[in-house]
Amino acid sequence: MDAISRRKMLMSGGALGALGALSLATPANARSLWTWAPDTSVAGSGSGVDPQWVWDEEADPVLAAVLDRGNVAAINERLATWTRNDQAPPAGLPSDLREFMDYARQLPSWADPVKLDRASRINSKKGIYIGALYGLGSGLMSTAIPREARAVYYSKGGADMKDRIAKTAKLGYDIGATDAYLPQGSMIVTAVKTRMVHAAVRHLLPQSPAWTQTSGGQTIPISQADILVTWHSLATFVMRKMKEWGVRVSADDAEAYLHVWQVSAHMLGVRDEYVPASWDAANAQSRQILDPVLAASPEGKALTEVLLGIVAQLDLGLTRPLISAFSRYTLGDRIGNMIGLSQEPILEPLIATAWPLLVAFREGLIPLPAIPAIAWTLEEALRQFVLLFLNEAQPIAITIPDMNRPS
Ligand code: HEM
Repeated sequence: MDAISRRKMLMSGGALGALGALSLATPANARSLWTWAPDTSVAGSGSGVDPQWVWDEEADPVLAAVLDRGNVAAINERLATWTRNDQAPPAGLPSDLREFMDYARQLPSWADPVKLDRASRINSKKGIYIGALYGLGSGLMSTAIPREARAVYYSKGGADMKDRIAKTAKLGYDIGATDAYLPQGSMIVTAVKTRMVHAAVRHLLPQSPAWTQTSGGQTIPISQADILVTWHSLATFVMRKMKEWGVRVSADDAEAYLHVWQVSAHMLGVRDEYVPASWDAANAQSRQILDPVLAASPEGKALTEVLLGIVAQLDLGLTRPLISAFSRYTLGDRIGNMIGLSQEPILEPLIATAWPLLVAFREGLIPLPAIPAIAWTLEEALRQFVLLFLNEAQPIAITIPDMNRPS
C-alpha cells in the first residue's frame, strides 16, 4: 500500500470508531421475514427454519477445537500441500480436522458431471463479462453488505486487503476453471478450505470488541443466510446482469452455471434445503435476502476505498474514474452512492452508450464500425483486470486465521 492509500485507510479507520455507534441505528440490520419455500431448493423440502439462525454445525466445533489447541501455523503449513481435488487431506493434521476434511470433500449425490463440464466451458466464451462482474460488480457490492463488510474488516485478513482479494479471486478462478471439479482441479480444496476459514472466523470474531460493538446484535458471524446473500451477490447477480446486457446465454448454459454454484454452496457448508433449485427460486430468494440488506456502513466505505486504491495502483490504464464509472454503470447509483463511488459525469454517459454496443458487437449483433473508441479502452482495461485477478493461477494458499484484525 502506498503512503496515500495507507493514510486514507488510517483516516477512515479513525472515523470508524466515531461512526461505530451510529451504525447501530442505521437500517443495516433490516431483513425480511424468511418465507422462501424449501420445496424450491435442491433438497426439495426442508424445515423452513430461517437460515440466519443456522451456522455450520459440522465445521464450527472442529475449527473451534483446532483454534483452542493452538499451533495453527503448523496446520497451515500442512494445508498448503493440499491442492488437488483427488488428493486425500495431508498426513500430519489433527485427526478431527482430517476427518472433517475427508467428509466435507465429498460432492453431493446430486452433483451432475455433465452440467459441471458444461459450466466449465462457459468461462472461455463469456469470461470477460463474468470476470468483470465478479471483480467490479460482486466484489464492490460486498462492501454494501454490512455484515460481510464488518466481518471482513475486523477479521485478520481485513488488515491486508490485497492479499485477501488475491485469495478470494482464487475462488473465482477455481470455480470457472475448465477442471474445477475434476480430479486434477482444485475447487473442492478451495471450497473446503474456505468452509474451514469461515468456521474459524465464527470462533474468532465474537472475541473482537470492535466487531461485537458493530454487529447489530448478531452474536456469531457468517450465518447460512449471510452466505446465501453473498452467493446471490455473485451467481444471481452475474446471471441477471448478463441477461440485462444482452449477452447470449443458452438455457443449458444458464442451468449449468447455476449448477456449479449450487454444488459450490453445498461444498461451502450451505444446507441443501437453502440452495435454490432454479433461477426463478434463486431470484425470489435474492429479492428476499439480498436486496433488503444492502446499506452503507463505515467499514464498507473504508473497504471500497482500499479496493479501488488497489485496482488503481495496478496502473494498467484502469484509471480510478473509469473503474468508478463502470462500477456505477454496473451496480447502479443506489449502490454506487452507498459505497461512496465517485460521480463521473463525463465518463458515465459514455460508458452507458458504449458498453451495450460493445456487447452487441461481441455477441455478433452489430458490425465493427458502430463501436465508439471508449469501448475498446474499457474492454482492454477489463481484460487486463480479469487476467490479473482471475486468470493467473498464482500459488495462493488459503490459510486458517488464528487471530482477528490487529487494532
Ligand atoms: C474468507 C469466499 C461468504 C467473511 C473467505 C475466503 C474465500 C471466501 C475464498 C478465503 C480467502 C481469505 O482467507 O481471505 C466466500 C464465498 C462466500 C463467502 C464464496 C459465499 C458464497 C462470506 C460471508 C462472510 C464472509 C457471508 C461474512 C458475513 C469472510 C471472512 C473471511 C473469509 C471474514 C476470512 C478473512 C481472514 O482471513 O481474516 N471467504 N465467502 N464470507 N470470508 Fe468468505
